[in-house]
Amino acid sequence: MAPVLSFPDNFLWGTATAAHQIEGGNTNNDWWRFEHTPGSGTAESSGDACDSWNRWNEDQQIVSDLGLGAYRFSIEWSRIEPADGEFSTVALDHYRAQLIAAHQRGLKPVVTFHHFTTPQWLADLGGFEYEQAPERFGRFVAKATEHLGDLISMACTINEPNIVAFIGYRIGFFPPGGVADKARYDVVADALCRAHRLAVDALRAGPGTFPIGMTLSMADWQALPGGEAHLHEFRSHMEDRYLAATEGDDFIGVQCYTRHLVGPNGVIEPGEDVRRTLMGYEFYPECTGATVRRAAEVTGLPVYLTENGIGTDNDEDRIEYLGRAIASAHGVLEDGIDLRGYFCWSLLDNFEWVFGYKPTFGLVAVDRTTFVRTPKPSAAYFGAIAQANAVEV
Ligand code: BGC
Repeated sequence: MAPVLSFPDNFLWGTATAAHQIEGGNTNNDWWRFEHTPGSGTAESSGDACDSWNRWNEDQQIVSDLGLGAYRFSIEWSRIEPADGEFSTVALDHYRAQLIAAHQRGLKPVVTFHHFTTPQWLADLGGFEYEQAPERFGRFVAKATEHLGDLISMACTINEPNIVAFIGYRIGFFPPGGVADKARYDVVADALCRAHRLAVDALRAGPGTFPIGMTLSMADWQALPGGEAHLHEFRSHMEDRYLAATEGDDFIGVQCYTRHLVGPNGVIEPGEDVRRTLMGYEFYPECTGATVRRAAEVTGLPVYLTENGIGTDNDEDRIEYLGRAIASAHGVLEDGIDLRGYFCWSLLDNFEWVFGYKPTFGLVAVDRTTFVRTPKPSAAYFGAIAQANAVEV
């Protein structure tokens, strides 16, 4: 019989989504504008996405049927605050209904307050380059918490601030499409860290008492001979400056998908012979163990894997990836690291940002015309792991 790796009691198993990627019709944020800007490189409009604005109940039921304990989703700032200082009770009530329903199903709702999208009114003021942007975010979080906090089980302030800043100001595939702009990158990175701190304060003011943290995109950086200096440099600007902003938080959310090999000339792109995912990067599920270990060592905080998964059109590859990633995560427990949960990205095949709907990360397929949801074999596989609280290797 294959060895079985058991997880501690209360280990939290969940799946994750983000508002703009699944709700549809989010026409009032910077991403919608970017999708419709000629030359932005976005493959297609997010459009109706998965119509989860209307079908969220069905989504939650799937999570519950899989036997998971938690559902991580984001609330859309541009719907809740469609204009500067103007708040929508209807939008807040919409999310309140989701929180109530999650509890009725025995699911812990994990709420993300910023998952890549910024309202157009704030983008017009300069986005996170606008000097008051962190205060604006803090005000939004305070307002949303007033309305929702009593029902929140866990809060993620900002999803991957490092990706928002890096891809938006140095690579150009995220709004506002800045390329190689180190000065603006630094401004935005610092602003996002400050926004995170203000959000933590707003969340702590309640109502409700729940763990609060940031989620960070991390990779298993591995140096080849001569690559150590570059590795140190990449990690410090992609990870460490953000990890430093988590002091005093309740947890750190690690999100990882692959590894990066670093040689004397920088990051080495995977060659033709390397097994890759639909995202172009290496198929490397074992990134979970190394990233969780590092996040725990650097911050001293409890860790949740708030995202991990694979964009693939071969569901057997997804099953292999998840099994190996979860086994690798288990390895850190044996070293006494306080890993408390694992969230699979993603529940649904959804809008994968600049790549449109092509890279499919979902445990559940979504018909692009009828929006019918069809769980894949990997959904049952992942659900069985969660229910057994154990993975077979
Ligand atoms: C993001 C998700 C994205 C996923 C897969 C993460 O960086 O939080 O929004 O879909 O990676 O690329």
